[in-house]
Amino acid sequence: MTCDVRSTLFFLFVLIRICLAQNFEVPEPKIEILKPKGFKVTLKDDGYSFFGFRGNINEEFHEVNEGQMKADIVSKQGGYWVYKNRSKKLEVGDTIFYWIYVIKGGKGSMSPFLEYTVSASENEIGVGSPSVNSYTDPNQTTTTPESPLSKRFGKLCEVSKTVVQGENSVCEGSLIFNEDFDTTGLRSLSKWNAEIMFPTEPDFPFNAYIPDNTVSFEDGSLVIKPVLTETQYGEDFLYNTVNLGVRCTGKIDRSECRHEASVLNVFPPVLTAKISTRHHFTSVWKI
Ligand SMILES: *[C@@H]1O[C@H](CO)[C@@H](O)[C@H](O)[C@H]1NC(C)=O
Ligand SMILES: *[C@@H]1O[C@H](CO)[C@@H](O)[C@H](O)[C@H]1NC(C)=O
Repeated sequence: MTCDVRSTLFFLFVLIRICLAQNFEVPEPKIEILKPKGFKVTLKDDGYSFFGFRGNINEEFHEVNEGQMKADIVSKQGGYWVYKNRSKKLEVGDTIFYWIYVIKGGKGSMSPFLEYTVSASENEIGVGSPSVNSYTDPNQTTTTPESPLSKRFGKLCEVSKTVVQGENSVCEGSLIFNEDFDTTGLRSLSKWNAEIMFPTEPDFPFNAYIPDNTVSFEDGSLVIKPVLTETQYGEDFLYNTVNLGVRCTGKIDRSECRHEASVLNVFPPVLTAKISTRHHFTSVWKI
């Protein structure tokens, strides 16, 4: 009995792990070189509803894009998903660079950056017979803008001119940054920091950036509310010399971090907040 419970629990655990996994495992398809020309890609069916193939001959994919050869296949043949291309004779040492995308139970899984190099033995033997392989199911290959792959990747992976720090490239139309401010405190925001400084050139505004009591979050909104310095610290404070110390986010030992009061240069009369993603997220937006 104990044993049964245990194995049931283990089974559930495995099931949960499988359900939590974003992608399911897809085996590498089999590639065969065809005589006199071309090649064939075969993936054994495992309940898939779609098989997309994108390939280049002797040209590596540097990102996921459409490639020279593309096929979105929506029907299997005798338990296999097959892509054939007979346009080019492949020689020993030629490499097919490719990526595939399959859909199973409504979920997609992509296997990027796959490759296959033609070896000597294969080229001699050759696989497949032209009479069988030349048959093409007219319903097998459809490349339309409506196909799931074009929707998910075709359009998405036009590489954008926008540059995002830490990413090799980003797809046009993709979301590069998102913040819903669903928090109650600044500290729990991982991508943001509050400035603590006296802003100087070019505008020399009459405020200091101090996040105490000036920034709050209300139902997913960032609220920045300036306050009078004298309300917060008392009127005498305006004539003090203030050093923001280690909390300062401006240039240390300059007027951004230290304010020396004089009759004509009182402490900024207004405190407000400024937050930025500096050190966490940087992008250069280009079109
Ligand atoms: C077959 O490959 C050639 C490049 O060798 C490509 O131009 C052509 O579009 C491919 N055909 C299909 C159906 O993918
Ligand atoms: C292709 O699909 C159409 C409509 O679904 C069907 O009538 C036709 O028989 C199919 N052809 C083949 C060769 O399977």
